[in-house]
Amino acid sequence: MEAKLIIAIDGPSGAGKSTLSKALAKQLGYINIDTGAMYRTVALLAHRKNISAQDKEGLKKLCADLIIEFKPTPEVELVIANGADVTAEIRTPEVSLLTPKVAAQPVVRDAMVLLQRKIGAAGGVVLEGRDIGTVVFPHAAVKFFLSASVEERGKRRYEELLAKGMDVDLQQTIADVEARDVADSEREHAPLIQAGDAVVINSTDLSIQGVLDEMLLAVGNAK
Ligand code: DC
Repeated sequence: MEAKLIIAIDGPSGAGKSTLSKALAKQLGYINIDTGAMYRTVALLAHRKNISAQDKEGLKKLCADLIIEFKPTPEVELVIANGADVTAEIRTPEVSLLTPKVAAQPVVRDAMVLLQRKIGAAGGVVLEGRDIGTVVFPHAAVKFFLSASVEERGKRRYEELLAKGMDVDLQQTIADVEARDVADSEREHAPLIQAGDAVVINSTDLSIQGVLDEMLLAVGNAK
């Protein structure tokens, strides 16, 4: 029987992790776990319940009572929190702003890491996030660190927002991406760092297929 590997994809926002993680999982017949969506879900529920990002006890209880499920459909992967579909709501600018603050709390990270390990333990998974190869699964069979220049990531985000009909400014979007990099890299708990044994792919001048080909090659070598 073919080995069912644990594959980690880490990197800053806008590097193409979500797209590549989904494509790689599909190609391999693996489950795709978007760990950012899990932190976003905690932030959304905290917001709804008026639990502040500083309220450790409140967040701990929220996480203890939380069941997150991923349900793939032909169009999108649905994120279900305690039985309710939160897929769209976890992507609002308000939740995007609150998520790094909630994700910086060790009580939240501990709960999510535990959940991620439970989901991924049997293998046959691609996990996408910031700390998968360093904290969640340091012994993952293959680790990718996907990056791209800040200008390119800002441009991609700008085009994404434009396509959604939003009124955005390119330079401001690039500045926002830069600010999020700083917040993600400089936080005290589980900051975004590259695992020493990660396969580093810079996607600035690569197509999605180009990155996917590199990834499949590395996975093939690990089997
Ligand atoms: O990948 P994303 O933009 O959906 O992530 C949302 C936020 O969650 C972002 O601020 C980084 C944080 N995050 C994290 O701290 N650890 C992870 N494993 C994944 C995301």
